[in-house]
Amino acid sequence: MPLVSMRQLLDEAAKGGYGVGAFNVNNMEQIQAIMEAARETESPVIIQASRGARSYSQDRFLYHLMLAATELYPEIPTVLHLDHGNSPETCKSAIDLGFTSVMMDGSLEADGKTPSSYDYNVDVTRQVVAAAHAKGVTVEAEIGCLGGIEDGHGAGGSGMEHLTDPVQAEQFVNDTNADALAIAIGTSHGAYKFTRKPDGEVLKMDVLIEIHNRLPKTHLVMHGSSSVPKELQDVINQYGGSLKPTWGVPVEEIQIGIKNGVRKINVDTDNRLAMTGAIRKVLMETPEKFDPRDYMKPAREAMKKVVAQRMVQFGQAGNAKKIIPIPMAEMAEMYKNGN
Ligand code: G3H
Ligand code: 13P
Ligand code: ZN
Repeated sequence: MPLVSMRQLLDEAAKGGYGVGAFNVNNMEQIQAIMEAARETESPVIIQASRGARSYSQDRFLYHLMLAATELYPEIPTVLHLDHGNSPETCKSAIDLGFTSVMMDGSLEADGKTPSSYDYNVDVTRQVVAAAHAKGVTVEAEIGCLGGIEDGHGAGGSGMEHLTDPVQAEQFVNDTNADALAIAIGTSHGAYKFTRKPDGEVLKMDVLIEIHNRLPKTHLVMHGSSSVPKELQDVINQYGGSLKPTWGVPVEEIQIGIKNGVRKINVDTDNRLAMTGAIRKVLMETPEKFDPRDYMKPAREAMKKVVAQRMVQFGQAGNAKKIIPIPMAEMAEMYKNGN
């Protein structure tokens, strides 16, 4: 099965009332972990690569690994998505490479740190929508800024400083025609999201619900959605790591989000924790080992377990078969005709 457009997957998810996890990758083992989890749970898949991942893998390695994934798992509809594109040029280079979806994160300026003006965000997002839709490629945009900083990308802070304004979100989608919208409702990137166990009030669900009421047809995206499970932290700390106590986004909160228009859920940190814990365990328990396969295999397995669990929790499990891929040229035609 060729790579499919994210718009198609999210339209299906909206019809079925479920969410789709978007998992970050940088290497072969992470792609394998996701594809195996998808096969086991019969899930459609969104694989995403950040700018950091693209430079780590020199782009071409990543793209060819993705092609291998579509060959080896032909029954799984798979999207290749650019995470947090910082400029129209970055997004266009991903489109040229064969990504079937891009995020233009114009909520920050091109430095990936400074919160931008509304007009700047509209301008860069519009440029990307024009280039992407002409090729059938999906566009995710962002309004409001998440907290935290990953790989030099992010506004910093706790995630409460730049919440999305629902009125502005509605205007923004009308002004840009983006397919999916990342919103800031109190989450942040990375492992250190909350300093105490979050209660039911932890995310600004009232903001999410108002955005969904105003934009019922726009697919909402939750970034910073790792749950940072204590079990995964414990493995790292047990085997020589040192993570400070921390809490992530409870899965039940994400499930409330899914009932209110969230269709794409970004998860990276949980998989990083799972892999690192598994590697630490092997190296501490069997210090005589030095074949990378001895620790990469358990790391891959640990990530697969987390991804499969999320696929079930988000509701995408069992939905792979229902998606008959629409060719990208046909998607382009549909955008052209305003469908
Ligand atoms: O949004 C951030 C993702 O976790 C990707 O992180 O930029 O370090 O690859 P990265
Ligand atoms: P986490 O750091 O919570 O996994 O968020 C990842 C993300 O939003 C990638 O864009
Ligand atoms: Zn993100």
